[in-house]
Amino acid sequence: MFEVSKKIMSVVKVSAPGKIILTGEHSVVYGYPAILASVDKRLSVQIQKSTKSLTVAPAFAHGFVKKGMRIFEKAVDGKINRNLRVKFESNILIGRGMGSSAATSVSLAAALLKYFRNEWNLKEINSVAYEMEKLHHGNPSGGDNTTSTYGGFLWFRKESEKFKIFSEINIKKKIPRLFLVDSGKPKETTKDMVFFVKDLYKKNPKKIEKILCELGDITNLFLKYLLKEERVSFPGLLRENEHMLEKLGVVSSSTKKVIRKIEDIGGSAKISGAGGKTGASGVIIAYHSNPVRLKSLAKNLGLNIFGLKLGKGGVKLE
Ligand code: PMV
Repeated sequence: MFEVSKKIMSVVKVSAPGKIILTGEHSVVYGYPAILASVDKRLSVQIQKSTKSLTVAPAFAHGFVKKGMRIFEKAVDGKINRNLRVKFESNILIGRGMGSSAATSVSLAAALLKYFRNEWNLKEINSVAYEMEKLHHGNPSGGDNTTSTYGGFLWFRKESEKFKIFSEINIKKKIPRLFLVDSGKPKETTKDMVFFVKDLYKKNPKKIEKILCELGDITNLFLKYLLKEERVSFPGLLRENEHMLEKLGVVSSSTKKVIRKIEDIGGSAKISGAGGKTGASGVIIAYHSNPVRLKSLAKNLGLNIFGLKLGKGGVKLE
């Protein structure tokens, strides 16, 4: 055991992006690939020496930071001085599948590594962040934290707990302009939803495996679209993907109604992330050839809608 080196810098500020899952939520937990993209919404954390013991703003993040510090100490095999002021700021929607928790884990891991070790190594940041993500989600695939660390468009696959592979996708075909419609914060957490699917799988492995396998096929088609290797309809893939997620049971009836309305006006949409069953299902990725129609539909439904820039940079020092 050794004392981690004394403070290297007086203040460290790091930011990391949120993400969307273009395709592959849930099936990624069972070894199928997923395609994720970082977004232009970020979370930052600032760490500063303090004369008092640990203070965290906002206060609800205190417990996570404390546990995160223990994970960090384990990773670097040393003890750290906890007389710190830790401050988070974010414009990522919380608890709606936009990767807010991953951005929190990634930025905290990166800031601690920089502050105490003067290190900046994406592989190390991602690996510490993955351990922190387990605090939020139990048994995450690791796709969210990897996307928040590296940014861009990622093809990601978890073969096993210790073996995950990913590759940046060098996009050859432009993705149509997408929007996010906020259906609201689900009552269930990501952990609940992953457990729900696990339970379904246990009860009916054949049926669920078939759905997961079809989701895997859709992900492969998305990849072929992005690489311009096959002519496929992007809105068609979004729609098919959504219908398989509905079959899986991770989209609530109120969210399905919103998505049917988007389809009725000629658009297509899918949830992004773990979803939700009884209330809302988080953000919906939506496309329409005429965005004005999408915006006025969202307005009529009283839902927030915002534009998205995908593939923005990963974790960085501010
Ligand atoms: O809801 P989110 O953004 O945390 O995404 C969860 C995606 C799942 O595939 C359901 C779980 C995971 O760990 O990949």
